[in-house]
Amino acid sequence: MTALAIVVLASPALAENGNPMRGQKDFQACAPCHSLEPDRNMTGPSLGNIWGRKAGSLQSFERYSDALRSSGIIWDDRSLDAWLADPQQMVPGNEMPFQGIKDAGVRADLLAFLKEATKSGAPARTAKNQMNGMGGTMGGMMGGGGERNLKDLTPNAQVKAITYCHDTYRVTTVDGKTRAFWERNLRLKTDSSKAGPRSGAPALVPAGMMGDRADVIFAAPEEISRTIEARC
Ligand code: HEC
Repeated sequence: MTALAIVVLASPALAENGNPMRGQKDFQACAPCHSLEPDRNMTGPSLGNIWGRKAGSLQSFERYSDALRSSGIIWDDRSLDAWLADPQQMVPGNEMPFQGIKDAGVRADLLAFLKEATKSGAPARTAKNQMNGMGGTMGGMMGGGGERNLKDLTPNAQVKAITYCHDTYRVTTVDGKTRAFWERNLRLKTDSSKAGPRSGAPALVPAGMMGDRADVIFAAPEEISRTIEARC
């Protein structure tokens, strides 16, 4: 029993044993929260250039937990394998909302993909792969990671005006169509990143699968009340 445990511990799912093609699929579990493009942060920090990086140290990410920041971990094959197996065991109190991947083979595949995709010089290709992998509906469903660029909106996705009456928002888009939403089904968000909308041109993004929910994403919070007019 003990001997077996030692053998298992001594053979982590190293990246070189994995299959990066399968790993790219497994990355869909991470993509709602993590970009592979350097400094493109979402719920979680960008994983661009993660190998050799100190945990919790990406300057542009401002939401690290103290637990991860002070963990002293350097990310390499072994530490990433342990993190993905059970993040809470490795760094108690960290704030990554993720259970872990129990299957060592899946971790090896994922690490093989990540090692390739997060090297500097790889970002253009991988960012595109990541977008394709996500698919439109998945992005919406997961509440998403801001995977779409909102600078170039089609007329049916660019908001022209929003009115608010009793419990209803009416959102008029540039193509002249108006859609009504129950107030609890319309979420008002901001995205100040370079993928976010232009100032004065908020985006209407469907959310959920039933078509009754949507996000309006603004360039900055002060635009929200400026855009919404209380009128019946
Ligand atoms: C629901 C969102 C979410 C999912 C899903 C998720 N992560 Fe994370 N991840 C985070 C957050 C948030 C942090 C920062 C945690 C902290 O500061 O305690 C993080 C941190 C990390 C870090 C440390 C980065 C650093 O700069 O030190 C790595 C590596 C990582 N995640 C990899 C992954 C991988 C690989 C997957 C998929 C198997 C994944 N994560 C799934 C949100 C997520």
